[in-house]
Amino acid sequence: MADNPILLSAHGITKRFLGRRRMPWRPRPVVEAVKSVSLDVPRGVSLGIVGESGCGKSTLARILVGLLDASDGSVQLEGRPIWTGDAADRRARERIQMVFQDPMGSLNPRKTVRELIEAPLIGLANLSAAERRDRVDHLMALVGLRPEFIHRHAHEFSGGQCQRIGIARALATEADILVLDEPVSALDVSIQAQILKLLDDLRDRLGLTYLFISHDLSVVNYVCDRVAVMYFGEVVEDGPTEQVLHRPAHDYTRLLIDSIPGRGLATASR
Ligand SMILES: Nc1ncnc2c1ncn2[C@@H]1O[C@H](COP(=O)(O)OP(=O)(O)OP(=O)(O)O)[C@@H](O)[C@H]1O
Ligand SMILES: [Mg+2]
Repeated sequence: MADNPILLSAHGITKRFLGRRRMPWRPRPVVEAVKSVSLDVPRGVSLGIVGESGCGKSTLARILVGLLDASDGSVQLEGRPIWTGDAADRRARERIQMVFQDPMGSLNPRKTVRELIEAPLIGLANLSAAERRDRVDHLMALVGLRPEFIHRHAHEFSGGQCQRIGIARALATEADILVLDEPVSALDVSIQAQILKLLDDLRDRLGLTYLFISHDLSVVNYVCDRVAVMYFGEVVEDGPTEQVLHRPAHDYTRLLIDSIPGRGLATASR
């Protein structure tokens, strides 16, 4: 799969934020959260992004899906620049979707399952109301939500079920790239396994491409074909999962692996 054509790529992505003022008479410091990151994601590949808290994973994710502008660099979909403000962005927005860490917090609790999954479809002029209803039914089945749940509200669901709704919503516009930012870290371990299995099945069935952010290397070992390791805003190592996690080239990756308690990596391998 690593030989597949490149679907999504990042070229020299840099993001600077204004940090918190330390002294009232000093200007606000500039924080470089992402530093000249370049990545190529072939079609159908699941690329893991790992690194400690604050290293810039979520910032990079938000830039890739177009939720945040980069200070420098470009994102390309099939070799064409996106998030540039032109017409191509519309289709890119449908194709690249994000799944968030906190499934309960990222869904409006007052909306029904139907409303939540249907929302991204409303702006699509080519779908009638009946077609939208059919699409929602199909998406619910795809993510393993029972049809009778359709009129329930988000607050009636467990974290795992909310994440199923989040995944259905991300797939509503027939996205083929999912950027998943710690999609299971807020869930109980037994539920994590179910959601990871679902994500794995969906990737096979629908031919999806994943950017999978996680601080849990055993999860990455299970889900990802390739891994990029971020350290202070930079990608310091990038390669096949087996190579990066079992024969790391960079000292920081070794440190990250050594910090796993017990034999976490071995237990979750396929
Ligand atoms: N809107 C913002 N304004 C200022 N600084 C920000 C902003 N968003 C992120 N940062 C800073 O950028 C850096 C990277 O943050 P980011 O959330 O991308 O890290 P992360 O790798 O996702 O961390 P975590 O594993 O905790 O989720 C941090 O130093 C953070 O404080
Ligand atoms: Mg984050």
